[in-house]
Amino acid sequence: MTHPEQWPLRNLVLRSPRLELRPDDDAGLFELVEVGYRGVHPPGEMPFLVPWTDADPAYMGRGTLQHFWSQRAQLSPERWALHFLVRFDGEVVGVQSVVGTDFAVTREVSTGSWLGLPQQGRGIGTEMRAAVLLFAFDHLGARQARSGAFADNTASHRVSAKLGYRPDGTNTYARRGERVEEVRLLLTPEAFADHRPAWTLQVEGAADCAGLLGAW
Ligand SMILES: CC(C)(COP(=O)(O)OP(=O)(O)OC[C@H]1O[C@@H](n2cnc3c(N)ncnc32)[C@H](O)[C@@H]1OP(=O)(O)O)[C@@H](O)C(=O)NCCC(=O)NCCS
Repeated sequence: MTHPEQWPLRNLVLRSPRLELRPDDDAGLFELVEVGYRGVHPPGEMPFLVPWTDADPAYMGRGTLQHFWSQRAQLSPERWALHFLVRFDGEVVGVQSVVGTDFAVTREVSTGSWLGLPQQGRGIGTEMRAAVLLFAFDHLGARQARSGAFADNTASHRVSAKLGYRPDGTNTYARRGERVEEVRLLLTPEAFADHRPAWTLQVEGAADCAGLLGAW
């Protein structure tokens, strides 16, 4: 008896000039945890809405693994989160997440990402965000992509500006007990048109994932 591939995400690969992005696998997640332990931001800063890097180091790794496992376990066409492990020269350097809710109707994705400190500032963050935007717009048929960052996250805002995002309001949060503003950002395929990278994204396995992501 034949049956369809049960987890087509295992065959999904995005390749940009320097990077390979694949939905998280267990071996890669353990590598990602090590990247996290080596540092993601200076201790005096907190770029994340969920301050996972402030967790007790004795448990941070386990919490990180369980977060990604729970997201993978709950994935459905109505609510999915693809956590692309980003590999540079074959080594995991960070993660580029893409989230969709009721994508079949909303045609909207949101993204979030981080890199190990030694890998930052070399254009990798821009390349990996561009990769998933090309995937979302050109392969899944997304009509909007959202992002957001605290007002003081210069690198993240610079990446968004380079790719054509426009400001779309703000949210206010308590960060380490202090008031902070998050700037919401919105990108359409039209705005992205003037900011698309010069390179071509190589994609394998996207068509088989369409049903699982509500993107047929
Ligand atoms: C945000 C992040 C993913 C960006 O990736 P990256 O590889 O560092 O970004 P890039 O090198 O592609 O681009 C960064 C841009 O910001 C600029 N930049 C970075 N820090 C800056 C600063 N303090 N002041 C001015 N410009 C700055 C860089 O010059 C570059 O712009 P350019 O290409 O015009 O020179 C990465 O820095 C990171 O993981 N940070 C910690 C976690 C985080 O903030 N995640 C996002 C939460 S919203």
